[in-house]
Amino acid sequence: MKGILLAGGSGTRLYPLTLGVSKQLMPVYDKPMIYYPLSVLMLAGIRDILIITTPEQQQNFKNLLHDGSQFGIKLSYMVQEKPEGIAQAFILGDSFLQNEPVALVLGDNLFFGNDLINLISQARKRLELTGGGEIFSYRVRAPERYGVVEQDEDGTVISIEEKPKKPKSSNAVVGLYFYDSTVVQYTKQLKPSQRGELEITDLNQLYLENGMLRVSNMGRGYAWLDTGTHQDLHDAGSFVRSIQERQGLQIACPEEIAFEAGWIDQQLLLKQAESFKGNLYGEYLFGLLSK
Ligand code: DAU
Repeated sequence: MKGILLAGGSGTRLYPLTLGVSKQLMPVYDKPMIYYPLSVLMLAGIRDILIITTPEQQQNFKNLLHDGSQFGIKLSYMVQEKPEGIAQAFILGDSFLQNEPVALVLGDNLFFGNDLINLISQARKRLELTGGGEIFSYRVRAPERYGVVEQDEDGTVISIEEKPKKPKSSNAVVGLYFYDSTVVQYTKQLKPSQRGELEITDLNQLYLENGMLRVSNMGRGYAWLDTGTHQDLHDAGSFVRSIQERQGLQIACPEEIAFEAGWIDQQLLLKQAESFKGNLYGEYLFGLLSK
């Protein structure tokens, strides 16, 4: 399975913060935002990842993440000329995907939860066995800001709508999606929406019409945070700070995930730690070596 991390878009809601730098490079407490969704793909065991950015910002992402070898993964980069929709990622990524199933994560979504690894690993396994699409829902107070999924008592999906004025449920669709290799073909059938975008919700609708969409609920034991507004960004930073301070464990440390998975050895971890010598992140990496 391959991964796509979508980190383009204009970030207008965060102006003037995002006039000079991509939203996904903004800090969420002590790390660039992109570390959080990148870590989710890594936790799902995905090591071949395409990062899609705006043309102007691609070099900044490369300066930050390089070829991924420091995390034991392989990163490739591609630009999206204009923000023409989340689903466009699959058309752009066609040659990268080489007919493999894919996990797409939005570069501004943060996930946290004890059982997260299980939840996403199970979705991945199901998808690899039976094909189709796997998405996740999460209860929110303001569902009209998101894609909204309506399910019956058995969890079967009845409808899925993008930012409905009158949401049929409180369950938002989160920015993490798993699809089989028909995704490119399906995406090519989509027409731009009224806002001129290839909508991820229309893609999910196609999977739904073909009886191939499954939704798992991320229950109340998970945190799903997005960073759409200044307040959201601040809240996400406060959340990460509180948990990390309390536990002394990092949320979304790619080196740690890679080391635990055996993708990087002690020597490489030491090299990374030395490159951050003198700050808390570096100390944390040194700490992993002496565990
Ligand atoms: O966060 C989850 C929500 O993400 C879902 O519930 C919605 O169904 C889905 O449409 C999307 O909603 P938003 O309208 O909030 O997405 P936004 O336009 O903010 O884009 C999400 C991220 O994807 C953001 O980091 C920018 C990036 N992006 C977006 C578009 C449209 C791109 O890189 N390229 C694009 O063309």
